[in-house]
Amino acid sequence: MKTDVTELFPEVNQIEQESLRSSVKAVWEDAIEIGGWTDKDLDRIPFTLLIPDCKFSLVEHTRAVTRTCLAIAEVLEEAYGGRISIDRDVLIAGAILHDVGKLLEYTEQAGKVVKSSFGTLLRHPFSGQALAFKHGLPPKVLHMIAYHSKEGGLGKRCVEAIIVHHADFVNFEPLRLETL
Ligand SMILES: [Fe+2]
Repeated sequence: MKTDVTELFPEVNQIEQESLRSSVKAVWEDAIEIGGWTDKDLDRIPFTLLIPDCKFSLVEHTRAVTRTCLAIAEVLEEAYGGRISIDRDVLIAGAILHDVGKLLEYTEQAGKVVKSSFGTLLRHPFSGQALAFKHGLPPKVLHMIAYHSKEGGLGKRCVEAIIVHHADFVNFEPLRLETL
């Protein structure tokens, strides 16, 4: 049975452009299938392998990052008015997809989620971008996925990619502190 991506990420409904909304859902559905995961696995796939026995799921993290991005956008728009331009549809799409490549970067071995051999060669910014390209996501969303993490540090991020990059780390560093 196909995963209900809207149920996983209700924020997807805030994407106004219908074709973009359905492409975002298609990428998640495809990643779940290619990664060999089922609906039941999604709650227990950790968002990072850098926190031992991480209790925060990829779905929780993705939702929190998306909501953080929206909150940042709201403040920036309110503070700077028309002097800053943020594409909300692109922002939400890129936030929901920024870590989708982790479904290929990770695998399960003896009941434990670990790095896959594929993931050793290609971290999630690369696999996520490839999945999104396959489903015809616009270049800015591909850019956000590809540039959101450390690999993107050498390039020039667009506004939406800067927001998702910082929202991602805000939703990582404090949670890692708990385990140090
Ligand atoms: Fe992330």
